[in-house]
Amino acid sequence: MMKIELITKTQHMARTLLEIYDSANHLHGDDGAPGDEEHFYEIADTHDILFAMENNRPIAFLSTTSARKYIFISANYVHKDFQNKGIASQLMNELKTRNPGSVIWCKLLNYAPWAIKFYTKHGLSFIPQDSPLDSELGNPTKDEPWCALYATS
Ligand SMILES: CC(C)(COP(=O)(O)OP(=O)(O)OC[C@H]1O[C@@H](n2cnc3c(N)ncnc32)[C@H](O)[C@@H]1OP(=O)(O)O)[C@@H](O)C(=O)NCCC(=O)NCCS
Repeated sequence: MMKIELITKTQHMARTLLEIYDSANHLHGDDGAPGDEEHFYEIADTHDILFAMENNRPIAFLSTTSARKYIFISANYVHKDFQNKGIASQLMNELKTRNPGSVIWCKLLNYAPWAIKFYTKHGLSFIPQDSPLDSELGNPTKDEPWCALYATS
């Protein structure tokens, strides 16, 4: 039985984030380097995290930061044994539901076509690299085209 929980800035979850990250990423060749533990302590300490739980075991997470109407997706990982079962989709839908009237956005790496496909499927549209952006979103880089999604009200 899958359920979704919001965990807000809890450092003791850092190792759990790292375990899910390592498991998820090993599927993907060059992107499969083990995670940096410090990075996940930082995320656990400062980001909001939606966890997907299977029988009380965390199997996926979606971490975000927010500033005014902007919700930034900093990471989205599903344990390899649970991928392609709609779990990341449920986390995305939960994020949209919890943040009406917000702009949900993320930065995507050019070499991660599966992630581009996933976010496109969820309504995020690419902003061309040479188009003017809201100054609060910063500047796109060659390797990281930007996406934005306007959530429903
Ligand atoms: C990307 C990821 C979060 C998707 O999670 P998931 O629970 O498997 O995704 P869902 O089952 O909800 O949705 C599946 C959709 O994601 C996309 N997708 C996921 N993995 C894919 C892959 N290996 N190749 C192509 N598309 C993929 C597809 O659009 C797919 O929909 P489709 O089956 O209709 O084509 C998960 O595969 C993962 O953790 N990958 C490794 C880490 C990563 O790349 N994270 C995203 C970058 S921040």
